[in-house]
Amino acid sequence: MTITPSSQSHNSHRLPIFLVLLLHLASSSSRSLILEAAAAAEEEDEQRSITLPGCPERCGDTPIPFPFGTKPGCFREGFQVTCNDSFTPHRAFLAYTGVNQHIAEIYYKVGWHYPVWRIDHDNTALELIDISVTKGEARAYGLVSSLCNAANLSGDYVAKCQNLALGERGPFILSVTRNLLVGVGWRVEPKIMSYLWSAYRNSTYEFSLACLSDLMGMPKLLQLATNGSCSSRGCCQAALPEAAPLTDFGTWFSIDENPMWQTNPCSYAMVVESEWYSFSTPDLYGVEVLPRRYPRGVPFVLDFSIRNGACPGKGQKPPRDYACVSGNSYCANASGGAAHGYVCRCLEHYDGNPYIANGCQDIDECRLRKLNPELYPCSTDGICKNRLGGYDCPCKPGMKGDGIKGTCTDKFPLAARVIVGGICGIFSIAAISFLILLRKEKQKTREFYQKNGGLTLEKAKFIKLFKKEDLKPILKSSNLIGKGGFGEVYKGFLDNEEVAVKKPISGTMLENEQFANEVIIQSRVIHKNIIRLIGCCLEVDTPMLVYEFLSNGSLYDILHSKKKVSLTLGVRLSIVVESADGLVYMHSKTNTKIIHGDVKPANILLDDKFAPKISDFGISRLIARDKKHTGSIIGDMSYMDPVYVQTGLLTDKSDVYSFGVVILELISGKKATHSDGSSLVNNFLETGKKKNKATELFDKEIAVAGDLDILDSLAGLAVECLNLDVDQRPSMTEVLERLLIINQSHKS
Ligand SMILES: *[C@@H]1O[C@H](CO)[C@@H](O)[C@H](O)[C@H]1NC(C)=O
Ligand SMILES: *[C@@H]1O[C@H](CO)[C@@H](O)[C@H](O)[C@H]1NC(C)=O
Ligand SMILES: *[C@@H]1O[C@H](CO)[C@@H](O)[C@H](O)[C@H]1NC(C)=O
Ligand SMILES: *[C@@H]1O[C@H](CO)[C@@H](O)[C@H](O)[C@H]1NC(C)=O
Ligand SMILES: *[C@@H]1O[C@H](CO)[C@@H](O)[C@H](O)[C@H]1NC(C)=O
Repeated sequence: MTITPSSQSHNSHRLPIFLVLLLHLASSSSRSLILEAAAAAEEEDEQRSITLPGCPERCGDTPIPFPFGTKPGCFREGFQVTCNDSFTPHRAFLAYTGVNQHIAEIYYKVGWHYPVWRIDHDNTALELIDISVTKGEARAYGLVSSLCNAANLSGDYVAKCQNLALGERGPFILSVTRNLLVGVGWRVEPKIMSYLWSAYRNSTYEFSLACLSDLMGMPKLLQLATNGSCSSRGCCQAALPEAAPLTDFGTWFSIDENPMWQTNPCSYAMVVESEWYSFSTPDLYGVEVLPRRYPRGVPFVLDFSIRNGACPGKGQKPPRDYACVSGNSYCANASGGAAHGYVCRCLEHYDGNPYIANGCQDIDECRLRKLNPELYPCSTDGICKNRLGGYDCPCKPGMKGDGIKGTCTDKFPLAARVIVGGICGIFSIAAISFLILLRKEKQKTREFYQKNGGLTLEKAKFIKLFKKEDLKPILKSSNLIGKGGFGEVYKGFLDNEEVAVKKPISGTMLENEQFANEVIIQSRVIHKNIIRLIGCCLEVDTPMLVYEFLSNGSLYDILHSKKKVSLTLGVRLSIVVESADGLVYMHSKTNTKIIHGDVKPANILLDDKFAPKISDFGISRLIARDKKHTGSIIGDMSYMDPVYVQTGLLTDKSDVYSFGVVILELISGKKATHSDGSSLVNNFLETGKKKNKATELFDKEIAVAGDLDILDSLAGLAVECLNLDVDQRPSMTEVLERLLIINQSHKS
């Protein structure tokens, strides 16, 4: 049964339209008398009701707009709210019986796969923070899950995991776009497990993400955790799966061994509103830090919709109990798809509550533009006039055009108009032929788009798909900043962000799905030392890629260009440490381990603070490889692992080899290849064999007496990376660990 608003209010939204208009005009003219815009806005908010007549509008600090409500007759089915007055201010809870959350407390013994005991704490109602009917969203408090070592330091551990039930048939689903899955801890892999959905599909549905790994017993790596950064060290985050609308799930942990239980006893997992949680390194220490700091929970966002109904088609009768009762409102499918019912929205130029009669009210754009001129443009010459469903901005007398578009110009004199008429005739013939050409071009654009995997990529979040026209202004020769075997790189601005656009040499063939998958993988790699892929343009023969722009160019340019920038040893050290961190992250991604295959200074880009970001893995090489059609070795021979060249087998140790060469290049300041045949690598290996110090090979700029030990350690580490016995080579994690120790001793 659906609880409907009282019959009186039902009738009132069926008032003859003209009467509503009259009433509205009367109220808006009286409103226009109020000059002070801000004051008027406040006044209007007071007048406008958000719920049915006689129903409470708030519970404590939380506004309760219809379809939510606290009293009988004040809410639709599923939207009942309990206002608990034992708190000051009062607190609002969802009263729908299907909605609750609880903590499952589970005790494990180390090495056992099965829990020793489990307590399910009582279900508690979900507390609401606020509700927005315009967005179709409610924010609520969700509990933080924790995994801690037992207080008696036995090495055993206790998981306290959030379980949330929104009810499969209820009006709420977890918002996919507004929440993230976040993990905090020394070594943590947060996970969402969804129960009802899995029962339905007969499979265990899990979504998980890796963030920290390979940190076992390496306390030095803790230095890499940075405040505010949730990008892999100490804190990680992942977008929610789009595959299924989540209604009943728990947050959990995939990894349960914690090597750092003495200093860092706990890890946490939570579903939380994007951008809300700011990671701070002290959160890694202490017991149950986050659950204790947020006893009510952390905010997360629910989408709500009207279930058991669908939007009426054109000319169709609305369903029974149709919720979009306000005039000037429309119906839209729910964010979880039509199976999740529909939501109501106000038409453009109206706002308010579409779920109540007369809820959607005309926006007075002319008044609002006094507060925010950009929102409702009207060129200064114009005179702004509000009207129902929009506003007018006429030009001054003697001018023509539209003040909203800012196109007011002088009217043409008569003689000019005659001539213009003639020209127009000629033009229209030209225009028709042009249109035919344009149509052909459009068709081609669409073909390219599909060929390049556009349909797959449309489903991926975090990847912007740019139009050809978006990138056109950037692809000018004056913006060209680089050229290579791969293609051309241009610099420009997109959405107020400085970007680098990679335009591959055209005419290359690609498997579209493979390309799309690479793009998706790369877009998910979020790490401060790996270049960020912003988006791509598929509407051309060979897809163009848009990356963040880094102002200091590549490490190769910095080291070897004529106007050489001098880098101190400290800067060089931080460049190798951070580059190593980026590579470790790529190698340790548990879902899809990524091997770079072409690590070299030209692929290490530097930002304005000389922080390095590794570029050019994945897609770029995919395209380059395809271009040659050899299927064989790609990359720069000076940095190439000889073992890989022999066997053709690319492993993470190949990257270690290349990284060794990069270290040598950084400490010697010399290019990896010498024209006279003896290579940089051989020179160092020779001195290494003879147990000589490589002092004469070091860059004179940094080879000062006090730093020679540091340089020797670096050279020693590099030589280990170059070991021809792959098993003797350190892993990238070990390299990073060693670099951190060297870096520490340089600082002290
Ligand atoms: C209000 O909250 C208190 C404290 O959590 C609880 O004991 C009480 O049962 C709640 N009252 C209602 C009406 O839910
Ligand atoms: C640690 O505490 C748990 C329960 O809190 C207990 O079962 C276990 O035996 C304790 N271990 C030791 C070594 O005391
Ligand atoms: C799930 O299993 C049940 C019986 O165990 C079966 O009737 C149902 O068709 C299965 N559903 C799917 C989607 O495979
Ligand atoms: C992060 O901020 C906290 C204070 O909020 C401070 O104690 C801590 O040292 C900072 N960590 C780093 C790595 O800067
Ligand atoms: C809602 O979804 C249904 C089924 O997918 C579709 O037929 C209908 O056109 C959609 N309506 C709107 C307004 O998007």
